Amino acid sequence: MKKLLSASLMCADLMNLQESIAQLEKAGIDYLHIDIMDGSFVPNITLGFDLINAIKAVTDIPLDIHMMVNTPAEFIDRMNLNENDIICVHYESDIHIHRTLEAIRNKGCKAGLALNPQTPLEAMKYLTEYIDMALIMTVSPGFAGQKLFAGAKRKVADARKFLDDMGCQHIPIEVDGNISIENGKNLSACGADIFVLGTSCLFVKDKELKDAATEVRSAFNVQ
Ligand code: DX5
Ligand code: ZN
Repeated sequence: MKKLLSASLMCADLMNLQESIAQLEKAGIDYLHIDIMDGSFVPNITLGFDLINAIKAVTDIPLDIHMMVNTPAEFIDRMNLNENDIICVHYESDIHIHRTLEAIRNKGCKAGLALNPQTPLEAMKYLTEYIDMALIMTVSPGFAGQKLFAGAKRKVADARKFLDDMGCQHIPIEVDGNISIENGKNLSACGADIFVLGTSCLFVKDKELKDAATEVRSAFNVQ
């Protein structure tokens, strides 16, 4: 499967977001990763729907929306998104996750299912027909700048085998949290396909976004 890069905008220079997006376009980034936090599902509050719609209006880069909110179904229609965009919701955030994944597809977007580090892969077993991407959190969600959890590599390898054994080779695995050059290379070898890039390798001090993206692209063997 083609390896893809998703830039985590919560880690960008928020006072110069449009300039950062223009640089990411030049760098050929595949997705803009947007973390939505509600201060309840996770103990932090970040980017909102008005900003998402404003970003959507200024770029053609598809959006990779990561919803870390309780009852995400209530907010899906607040975003002006299309068939190129992904809306990813957490299994742990919604007792009607099947219905929410269907609602995302009915909106015309791609549906992603996110699992916290401790959540068993079994959670995906009866939902594979409703998902276009599996997001394996490699940190506990809520903050940038954390360290990869100890079981991340084996969980990604197990996730790839779990999906392949179910005939779901078509479902890509995204990883999010502390994706440094080294961690990214290891997780890529374990089966990860989409890499959320934050403070660990893209938005780093004294490095141009274009140069950082080029370095990551060659390290992860991304075409
Ligand atoms: C954390 C977010 C991540 C975060 C990644 O909950 O989902 O997208 O921005 O940042 P780093 O790469 O610094 O871990
Ligand atoms: Zn995220």
